[in-house]
Amino acid sequence: MVIAIDGPAGSGKSTIAKLLAENLTKKSAQDYTYINSGKLYRAITLGCLRADICPVDSEKVIEFAKNIDISYKKDVVFLNGEDVSGLLHTDEIDRHSSPLSAIVPVRHIVNDFIQKFSKDQNIVVEGRDMTTVVFPNAEHRFYLDACADARARRRFDQGVSNLSLKEIKDAIIKRDEIDKNKTEGSLKIGEGVQYLDTSDLTIIQVYDKLIKEID
Ligand code: DC
Repeated sequence: MVIAIDGPAGSGKSTIAKLLAENLTKKSAQDYTYINSGKLYRAITLGCLRADICPVDSEKVIEFAKNIDISYKKDVVFLNGEDVSGLLHTDEIDRHSSPLSAIVPVRHIVNDFIQKFSKDQNIVVEGRDMTTVVFPNAEHRFYLDACADARARRRFDQGVSNLSLKEIKDAIIKRDEIDKNKTEGSLKIGEGVQYLDTSDLTIIQVYDKLIKEID
């Protein structure tokens, strides 16, 4: 079974997808693997920055992405064998991963990886184009949304950013703009995808709505 969730940054999709995978694994006698596709773009961004490659230099980024070894195990991302999971959620990676993810051949590399990785597995996968491009035939497809104020507040409350609330909100709006205007894999509500505005909902309320649909 494939459960695909898309939505903008801060819409709660990572928390919900992880929770669904954990609880579905407990409820059914089968394993559900959680896949966070954004982490793959973030890992490539980190690799580029470390190699002094500007994340918008398409040619160099594509060459780099073709030649790295990325692997993913239990929500841990390995870049050329190194666990980089703890380095992916910085303001710098936030800022650069959005334009990098607009490079079409990079999207193909990431999407191929996800499709191969998830073959013959039950998965809960989240990102921007999981419901539209990568898994358009998933058994369950959801789009989680929230207003920019609510999303900025959630990020601020995580305490991992050095930016002010206003700066976080501005950065989120900028990323939305890029994510919604990509040539391929743009963030949009696909046909038949269930839409949920989570602005005024708690994690548990969102979880309950989704699990009810899945059940
Ligand atoms: O979900 P996230 O914020 O961790 O994603 C990091 C960046 O990668 C984000 O700017 C959008 C991009 N992304 C994408 O283009 N397609 C996906 N399927 C997942 C993420």
